[in-house]
Amino acid sequence: MRPSVSALLLLATLALPSSAVKNEDFRKCKDSAFCRRGRALAQRAKDAAPGAWKSPYTVIDEAVRVLPHTSGITAVLKNELYPGIKFRIEVRVHDDGVVRVRADEVKGLKKRYDEAASWALIREPVLAPQYEVTWVIGAWETTGHYKGREIRVFYKPFRIVLFQDGREDIVLNGEGLFNMEHFREKTPPADKTEEEAPAPEEAADQKVIEEPKKPVKATAWFEGEEEDGYWEETFKSWTDSKPKGPESISMDVAFPGHQHVYGIPQHAAPLSLPATTGPDSFFDDPYRLWNLDVFEHEASSTMSLYGSIPLMHAHSDKSTVGIFNAVASETWIDVSHPKPDSTLTHWISESGILDVFLLPGPTPEDIFAQYARLTGTPVLPPLWSIAYHQCRWNYISSQDVREVQKAFDDNEMPVDVLWLDIEYSEEHKYFMWKDKTFPDPVEMIEDVAAVGRKMVAIVDPHLKRDHTYPAYKEAMDLDILVKSSNNNNYEGWCWPGSSAWVDFFNPAAWTWWQGLFSLKDKEGVKWRWEKSSKNLFIWNDMNEPSVFNGPEITMQKDNVHYGGWEHRDVHNINGMLYANQTARALLAREEIPKRPFVLSRSFFAGSQRHGAIWTGDNMGTWEHMAVGLQMALADGIAGMTFSGADVGGFFGNPGSEMLTRWYQLGVFFPFFRAHAHIDTKRREPYLLEEPYKSIVRDLLRLRYSLLPVWYTAFRETSVTGMPLLRPQYVMFPKDYKGFAIDGQFYVGSSGLLVKPITQEGVTETDVWLAEDEVYYDYFTYKTYQGAKGGKSVTLPTPIEKFPVLIRGGSILPTRQRPRRSSTLMKQDPFTITIALDSSGTASGQLYLDDGDSFSHEKGELVWREFQAAVLGKRKKKGSLQIMSIDLASAKPDQAVDGTSLSELYTPANAFAQSIKDVKVEKIKVLGLLKEPKEVYLHNNTHDPIQLAWEWDNASSLLTVKNPSTKIVEDWTITVKWV
Ligand code: NOJ
Repeated sequence: MRPSVSALLLLATLALPSSAVKNEDFRKCKDSAFCRRGRALAQRAKDAAPGAWKSPYTVIDEAVRVLPHTSGITAVLKNELYPGIKFRIEVRVHDDGVVRVRADEVKGLKKRYDEAASWALIREPVLAPQYEVTWVIGAWETTGHYKGREIRVFYKPFRIVLFQDGREDIVLNGEGLFNMEHFREKTPPADKTEEEAPAPEEAADQKVIEEPKKPVKATAWFEGEEEDGYWEETFKSWTDSKPKGPESISMDVAFPGHQHVYGIPQHAAPLSLPATTGPDSFFDDPYRLWNLDVFEHEASSTMSLYGSIPLMHAHSDKSTVGIFNAVASETWIDVSHPKPDSTLTHWISESGILDVFLLPGPTPEDIFAQYARLTGTPVLPPLWSIAYHQCRWNYISSQDVREVQKAFDDNEMPVDVLWLDIEYSEEHKYFMWKDKTFPDPVEMIEDVAAVGRKMVAIVDPHLKRDHTYPAYKEAMDLDILVKSSNNNNYEGWCWPGSSAWVDFFNPAAWTWWQGLFSLKDKEGVKWRWEKSSKNLFIWNDMNEPSVFNGPEITMQKDNVHYGGWEHRDVHNINGMLYANQTARALLAREEIPKRPFVLSRSFFAGSQRHGAIWTGDNMGTWEHMAVGLQMALADGIAGMTFSGADVGGFFGNPGSEMLTRWYQLGVFFPFFRAHAHIDTKRREPYLLEEPYKSIVRDLLRLRYSLLPVWYTAFRETSVTGMPLLRPQYVMFPKDYKGFAIDGQFYVGSSGLLVKPITQEGVTETDVWLAEDEVYYDYFTYKTYQGAKGGKSVTLPTPIEKFPVLIRGGSILPTRQRPRRSSTLMKQDPFTITIALDSSGTASGQLYLDDGDSFSHEKGELVWREFQAAVLGKRKKKGSLQIMSIDLASAKPDQAVDGTSLSELYTPANAFAQSIKDVKVEKIKVLGLLKEPKEVYLHNNTHDPIQLAWEWDNASSLLTVKNPSTKIVEDWTITVKWV
């Protein structure tokens, strides 16, 4: 959200202008001096005569040392253009093969920010045991040999190459664009007397205008002639005082042999990132990472948006590799393809040390595990938070909230969470209810909670500068506010008018912030949010931070945070820290902690550990719908799997067709929330006319029936880091025809393949099946056969339909009884759908726990695997065996970091006991060729029981009804043809 300063008055009336993005309010590379310098360096390299460009950076060979007791080396790097300046470089190999490269200036005039990794990483990475890495220090290069790979550090020029399988997979500084601007003293401007420098009018009068003779800088071939924006920079009306001067880092990273790169969210761009420079460039500006609140952003752009994760995957049919660049300052990334099947990237960051992690893969699974080991796996959220959320700016009163809830119930539409945007708060002083419209907030929340629902209220990071507002007063007294460059508390504008921002980098802010959310009076807590409830959860918005009258709608870069760091150094981490502290506050709220839920708009590497994000203020257009999916896919591969776009589009009034299609997409977003701008017409799903209303009701019910599938997928991502929405290249890493596909995806490991319709009037669509396997339509059971090498199949898509296919070989556990909320489904029976593959086998998992506490960490869970296999011939003799086995006993649940979550598991744990009577009410089998003759159930407690079944010839569907099995028990069902 971003109104112009002149529109601030309008904010009071909440009438926001609705025009397209104001591009001129946001920097392009050409408006950012360090980006200009970085790109100009790349241009000089390109313009140089063939072979003439040589990086001036060299490793001093006699200074290479193997680190004692670690699997790394240190070396000294120098820039030949500045003989006095040295950088210490360190290369370390982690036990999973990741290579970390760090560099910092030795005894620099100032200190570079070196804490970005400490916020992003979950722990100090485990280094490879020393005996696993052999370093050979040679005259031209040092090579580390480990696990069949090589990391080679070349001295002159400096270059680092990761080799695997005899291939150069990642190359740092192969193009010679590496440049770490050292700290320097500001040189006084050249001494010019008035005589020497005539005023322009006088100069014009002189007959011969002498060109002032500038000495050619010896470093000009590399650095350029000008000191472009080294010491001060003005963008529009804001001047950045740049107290530390230039310290930017430019670095080229090549992925030879990899045509596709993915990741670096968040951009409204295709999943396979199009080139930004070179002959095949699609965009003309580099991808930018600088968390910003971009009002009405475009649907196709490299502009930065609300969150930044500097993680990139590079993919080919030979390997998937990646780079994680732990930098929090403004970063621009150019992508180009020097050869059709290779990718060159150029990263330009404004400040900080060099701290990059080379992820060797070589499979997508490996990359996800490697990144998760560094920054943590996504959180296992409360079950209710993966159900349906209904939001709007704003439900205007407690009465309104109750009416919305009633309308959902009257229309038999499930919903789990009702949201309150900023208008619940008095003068936008968060925590303070507007008494007039919300006279009974706690009662309202409890009314909603009566059927297991929750509420979420917004708490933004800006505090109204009003001494009667306790949150502001206390933060000021504690001296925990962000400072301006002049060391006074920073003041900016946001929803409440003049505001201040808590500095969440200051540990003193953390305990204080937790206190605000506590439900009971606590020692040391002065003021807390009294009118709250354990059923109220939090939405952290505007945390880039958004500052209406700041440069690019955010804070000045020379603002100062705890520890004296400038805002420029830490900006991209800011939003994550804020949401992280809110999640901690919710954790601390109850004696026996419940899983928190915090939705954050801004994010960074590591945000996945704390909660969900959404893609921000999208528009109600088809283009935004399509890019919303691409953005969620990119978020997911960068760890931020719990993500989704505002269903319906934030701005605008989508028609019924678009809204219906939007729900079809939203049902398959990990975070499924409808939201709308205050100026839009009400569009809760029950307001739709028929047939759309019934279609959307069915869609909501579809989400609820699939909650076991989703929850199982969330558990998997929380231990493996694998994304919830899996693009084709992740599922089929050898199928090059699928590498750029980003309109369809698989849901976790479930085998569900989904292609939402994101265009108007589409009556059929093609789905890419990458393998020679059978796929079943989820709704009709019609089969579609893939082919070796891949095949496109066409599916009809009238408004009530979109492709949801079950991959042959999958088993889906679902719950088919419509309920008002997910909590009410706890004792509901299961339907198990078995989709046999071409060889007559299938498997699938089900994970359950109490859905909101941490008792699963003590082994209170149910984790089962269903297996099905045809033994013998399906048509004539033979049988189909279907088994339910206790996976938690059979296979300790190993997380990527080696910990086992189910170590304490016993089959009779309290949670399993609490659902011991929950039945399987139906088993459906797809893919049989003939009706069977007998169906038997075997379990440990009684003799085989004969079961009844139905056979539907048209769809070859076998339905075993009421098979007398319990979901927590082991059992086997045998289907026989003789
Ligand atoms: C901006 C958020 O992106 C939007 O979702 C919210 O409704 C408004 N702020 C008002 O809080």
